[in-house]
Amino acid sequence: MGKQLQVIAIDGPSASGKGTVASRVAAALGWDYLDSGALYRLTALYAQQQGVDWKDETAVASLAVGLPVVFKGDKILLDGQDVSQAIRSEEIGMGASAVAALPAVRTALLQRQRDFLTERGLVGDGRDMGSVVFPDACLKIFLTASAEVRAQRRARQLDLPCEGEAYERILESIRARDEADSRREVAPLRQLPDARLLDTSEISIEESVKKVLDWYEKK
Ligand code: DC
Repeated sequence: MGKQLQVIAIDGPSASGKGTVASRVAAALGWDYLDSGALYRLTALYAQQQGVDWKDETAVASLAVGLPVVFKGDKILLDGQDVSQAIRSEEIGMGASAVAALPAVRTALLQRQRDFLTERGLVGDGRDMGSVVFPDACLKIFLTASAEVRAQRRARQLDLPCEGEAYERILESIRARDEADSRREVAPLRQLPDARLLDTSEISIEESVKKVLDWYEKK
């Protein structure tokens, strides 16, 4: 193994809460935070805006290489436009999952992700932080929760009831994305042998953050 990096890699499925946990851990340590899923979402949105099919690997990869994105505090600007909300829709989530299955797109975004690491340290969340982007991370975590708990959390975020038709649709979409992200050939979502499992189905965000910080301190 190479020299360990000041990186905490947090991988896990959609709507598991890994983004919230990762950004809070980063804030607690004074490190930077990388939301790698945002880059795939931005690529999907940019392709849609440019009229490029999500399945056109060459064209999507070339858009990914030149993605005109600026991260400005909490805001994400694409070509100067604030798209922080637009990239969070279910439709763009599915688009992100589709473009993320294309090897040329993953290669196009690899260096951009590594460039987020400075001497300050970095907490990155995604699907392949520990396996591909930062294989020498000093701490790797597989953060998950049951599909039902994740669907309930997403429903609450959207101000929808945690039962009934809308909830069932969210649950179905979460299961479809899990399936697509774990079955694809490149960088599939899975727990690495050297990653610690953090199941947040029955614990709060605060407890999850504390657990990660404990692991980091005791490592
Ligand atoms: O974490 P998220 O829901 O914002 O990610 C959106 C999609 O991007 C997800 O379905 C899979 C893909 N993704 C990926 O393949 N690799 C990453 N490191 C992060 C996200």
